[in-house]
Order: sequence, then structure tokens, then C-alpha cells
Amino acid sequence: MAHSKIPVEPYRIKMVEPLQRTTREEREFVLQEAGFNIFNIPADKVFIDLLTDSGTSAMSDRQWAGLMRGDESYAGARSFFRFEKTIKNIFGFKHVIPTHQGRAAERILFQTVVKKGDRVPNNIHFDTTRANISVLNAHPFNCVVDSAYDVASAEPFKGNMDIETLRTFIAENGAENIPLVMMTVTNNSAAGQPVSLDNIKQVSALCRKNKLPFFLDSCRFAENSYFIKKREEGYAKNTLLEIAQEMFSYADGATMSAKKDALVNIGGFITLNDNALAHKLKNTLIVGEGFPTYGGLAGRDLEAVSLGLEEVLEEDYMEHRIHQVRYFGELLDEAGIPIYLPTGGHAVYILADKFLSHIPRDQFPGWALTVALYREAGVRSVEIGGVMFAKKDKKSGKESFPKLELVRLAIPRRVYTLSHIRYAADALIEIYQKKEKIRGLKIVEQEPPLRHFTARFEEI
Ligand SMILES: Cc1ncc(COP(=O)(O)O)c(C=O)c1O
Repeated sequence: MAHSKIPVEPYRIKMVEPLQRTTREEREFVLQEAGFNIFNIPADKVFIDLLTDSGTSAMSDRQWAGLMRGDESYAGARSFFRFEKTIKNIFGFKHVIPTHQGRAAERILFQTVVKKGDRVPNNIHFDTTRANISVLNAHPFNCVVDSAYDVASAEPFKGNMDIETLRTFIAENGAENIPLVMMTVTNNSAAGQPVSLDNIKQVSALCRKNKLPFFLDSCRFAENSYFIKKREEGYAKNTLLEIAQEMFSYADGATMSAKKDALVNIGGFITLNDNALAHKLKNTLIVGEGFPTYGGLAGRDLEAVSLGLEEVLEEDYMEHRIHQVRYFGELLDEAGIPIYLPTGGHAVYILADKFLSHIPRDQFPGWALTVALYREAGVRSVEIGGVMFAKKDKKSGKESFPKLELVRLAIPRRVYTLSHIRYAADALIEIYQKKEKIRGLKIVEQEPPLRHFTARFEEI
């Protein structure tokens, strides 16, 4: 199969960050020390880091120059007004509230509107939205379309909300017990699959009918806009900015982790229309994050976010971005490696239980693959499967595992070249050819609820 034509990087490199090569013996030692948990590996011992696309972007020369223009005034900084203007232009809401990252935006919003026993639907809640709802003794609920779990379906918008499930959910739980409806674009927990504008419109109409506020979890809004442009009828001629503006026009507000599509290393915000709610959110912000014109960020961060939000909507950038991810997927797919198809916006996901079909689910094939990939090539990936999402039955103590056992290879934005991508693909292909040698793992230390960050393992 021929590779799709991949656009050349629309940037050149002005500053380099050397990568450390390690020997196999060193990596073996590092793995033992880390208890076979890739989160415990010092980044200096990683050659190519595909752990996450969050906060790992390379900033542009404009953004670095912007840092120098940051206004660090405590109140009313010039940088805030620029930040506010850029966000209002793209998102179109009346109020802009900066936060230090996405989960702070979620915490402030949910603490203010969600109460004990409430229910909050989403296409699929990301871990932090789920956790920020659960800590309030409220209930997060996923309403994603079935095709999200069909790893081969060519449907263009597998991140969508299932409208009928949402309708039934509202009818059964009562709108009075649902403080807001959220939707995650792109749908990170469904392999970065996009959401269509038509779907957003339908969710919006259902929310309006039931007088429910509708918020987008928007950290990959620009990648989602690109998929709409390419896949949804009627949008081919629109700019990414126009599509993003339309997307947000159907919502009442959004939370944002700027660490993704704002092309920065830290930052976030809440943006919304409701005056009274904005007032309350700002009061909560002052207690935990900072004054409303900086909200946990430095003035220079606000500058970098403003510029990043403009750059991410440039089509040349996004063409290259999405094609780089697709190219990685194609290299693996051609070699017969089972992956989630089509590839989404920010990562390639390997079907680890199929890749290592000789390792049973309770010996964590996904985790074993992250260990093997580091051991062979110094490439860091992350398991999204049994270790991260197992559920323990309270009576029997037995664990049940999520539908999909995935290893995510997230691509940081503007950081790696095509030869880095080929290096990672070659390593995986080599591992695939001798996959029978890879062993499963057992957990020897763990700390719920987010055990994957700290657990220690032994190889079986
Ligand atoms: C969909 C989604 N929402 C929210 C967040 C939380 O953002 P942050 O890591 O900035 O707190 C993330 C982070 O990965 C995410 O992917």
C-alpha cells in the first residue's frame, strides 16, 4: 500500500535539544529501578518520548518572542487583554477565565455547578473530568456511539455522542439532576476520534430543549475542526477558524487545556456566556488559582497561549500534523501491526491484546508492550488498558478489564521529524517479529485510584 502523501514540515529548526542515546544494558537497569513502570523513568533516559501530546509542544519563534513581551502586572495585565481577545475571536463567548491547566478549569467549573448525586454526561469523560466529578460524589456518564469501540470501522466521526443514549439518559435521570452536558473534542478516550458538527448541533438542540448548559472539553478543538473540514459535507471551503467558531456557537461554554491545541507547555481556561456563573467562577478562581486576569499563569504564558491559538489554526501546520500521525499509523498497519483505525488527531493506538495475543489480559499485555518498546528502542509510550482502567468487584475482589487494551503513541506537536517517527515504527515492527518472547507482568505494589502512575511490576 502506498503511503498517503505527507506534506513537508511547514517550519524549520532554529534551536535543537540533544537526545540521549542509551545502551540496552542501561535501559535494562532503568527498567528494574523503575519497577517496570514507564512513569518512573527519568526523561533523560528516554530517546523518543511518545508518552503524551500534552504540554510537550515546541513553541514557535513568535511564541518565544511573545514571552519577552509578557506583562507581569498582578491585575489588568496587557497580556490578559490579548489572551481574552484571541479567545473571544475563536470561541465567541463573553467571559474568559485563565487557569493553570485544563483540570483546574474543570475543578472550578464543576465545584461551582455540580452537587452530590448529580449526573454529568459526556461522549467519553477524560480521566480528569471523570475524577473532578467523582470527587464531588456526582456521577460521570459516557454516551459515545458504539463505533468508538469498533477498532476497524471506517466511520468518519467515531468520537460522536450517541444522541438516543443521551436523550434516554436525560429522560431517566431528569434534567434537574444534570447540571451540564459536556462533549470532548476530539474524543481522547476514543483514540482521538473526531466529533462532527452535525452531532454537536444535535446535542446542542437537545440541551436547549431541556434547558441544560452545554460545554465543550475543547483541548483539541483545532484538530477536530480539521477533521470536520476534510470529512463533513459542506465544510471543505471553510477555514479552520470558521469551523471552530461554528462549533463553539452551539455551546454555552468550554473548558480548555492549552497544553494541547494552544501549542504551549502550560495553561488553560474556561470561557462561557453566563454572567452570573462567570462571576461565581471568578470568585472560586481567586481562592485557588489567582486573580482573574492571570488565573495561575504568568503574563508571558498568556502571550504564548494567544499566539499558539492563532498558529494552530494555520492549515499548513494542521495538514502536516494530522498526516504525520496518519503516516505513523500506515507504517505500522502495513507491517501487519494491529492498530485502531482510522488514526485520530494526536496519537496512534496499538491494539495490545492482539499484538501480544499470547499474554492474557490479567498479565497486562499493553503494559508489557510499553516495557518492550522502551527496552528495545528507548521509546516511551503509555498503556491505556487493564492497569489504567481495571474495575475491582467489591465482593469477589476480581478485576474486570476495559473493552480495549491499548498502547498509545502520542505525537508531541512540532517536536519530532519523520525520521523519528520511522525510528519508532521500525522498533515496533522489529518487536512484532519476535513478539512471542515478550512476557506479561504482575503488579507487586499499587496505590488506588490512579495506580498506573505509581505501581511497580515484576515480569512473569
Ligand atoms: C480531553 C482532555 N480533557 C482534559 C484534559 C486535562 O488537561 P490538563 O492535563 O491540562 O489538566 C486532558 C489532558 O490530557 C484531555 O486530554
